[in-house]
Amino acid sequence: MKLTMRLKKDSYDIILKRGCLKNLYQLANIRGRKVFVLTDDGIPPEYAKTVADQCTDATVFTIPQGEASKCLKVYGQVLQAMLDFGMSRQDVLVAVGGGVVGDLGGFCAASYMRGIDFINCPTSTLAQIDSSIGGKTAIDLGETKNIVGAFWQPRAVLIDPDVLATLPRRQYVNGLAEALKAGLIADPQLYALFEKNITEHSIDQDIEQVIYRSLQVKKKIVEQDEHEHGPRAALNFGHTIGHGIEAVKGVRGRRKNGLYHGECVALGMLPMIEDKALVKRTRAIMRALGLPTRASYDKTKVLEQMHHDKKGRGDTITVIKVPGLGCWRADRIPMTDLPLLLGMEAED
Ligand SMILES: NC(=O)c1ccc[n+]([C@@H]2O[C@H](COP(=O)([O-])OP(=O)(O)OC[C@H]3O[C@@H](n4cnc5c(N)ncnc54)[C@H](O)[C@@H]3O)[C@@H](O)[C@H]2O)c1
Repeated sequence: MKLTMRLKKDSYDIILKRGCLKNLYQLANIRGRKVFVLTDDGIPPEYAKTVADQCTDATVFTIPQGEASKCLKVYGQVLQAMLDFGMSRQDVLVAVGGGVVGDLGGFCAASYMRGIDFINCPTSTLAQIDSSIGGKTAIDLGETKNIVGAFWQPRAVLIDPDVLATLPRRQYVNGLAEALKAGLIADPQLYALFEKNITEHSIDQDIEQVIYRSLQVKKKIVEQDEHEHGPRAALNFGHTIGHGIEAVKGVRGRRKNGLYHGECVALGMLPMIEDKALVKRTRAIMRALGLPTRASYDKTKVLEQMHHDKKGRGDTITVIKVPGLGCWRADRIPMTDLPLLLGMEAED
């Protein structure tokens, strides 16, 4: 399956095909170029090797797995390694990994020599469903996520569902939260695949459809609004509260009892669904998948974090709500209404 992201400038193909990692040479322009392959030490090394073996001049650089690698120090190490490898502006960086490798690799590509070509080969469900397309690249500053980054579109995205076979189950399910989000805001048929997972058969059997339909939703939204000035905000459904929970609980991989990004988004979506029957259906889907539907977190701290995220920009906040399946609405609400969304008493 192929999708083409059509942007004003720099359109690119997204290839979704089992085994496509082995065909990078045919599918992307790497001929006669130095190829810097970035991966992490949690990803089976054969995936990066499969890519490197197709290039005439490649090097593989492996960073430690986990969110902590999306930092200035590792960013500097990657750039230094690119320089040491003798990369020029004509060369290319290929990310082989989850959202961490993709976000960091994309930002290295965006900034090395003011920008070189970037190819993304996502290996986690989260990256295949969501983070590998759309052009957002970033690193964190301390625990402040994605605060330094750039919009930098890849030249190609190669999605090989075969690599998901080695992904730990909790990571696999974590990524599906972003697909559930896509179904809720824009695609009832995608949502139906999740309901089938409760009663008929495992979602694993539909994984290609789940990835494809999720990418279609994101592609359509990004094509309308590449730099998030309008409708792209829909993709933030679940993220306003989700980011607050993520900041307070900590990102798993950085903090021992933290939660993964998708798990926080899942928790953040529930209060934003207005139709009570749909909340019940969504909870059932999340339970069947193994996503948390409740988590113990300090609501006051989450609220403080949400205020902090606003960075003093006025006393209202825009949240994305889902009034019914497959549709969304941006609501500007007073910050004082946030406690109600979190199930707390309203502030005085
Ligand atoms: N750019 C965007 O638009 C966007 C969107 C959503 C999330 N993100 C970012 O994505 C990151 C999270 O991504 P993630 O969930 O993929 O986490 P991740 O990159 O940390 O990968 C999760 C873990 O799975 C391992 N792994 C990855 N693929 C594997 C495979 N095929 N087999 C075995 N192990 C494998 C990794 O080593 C890692 O330990 C966060 O930093 C988040 O901010 C970015």
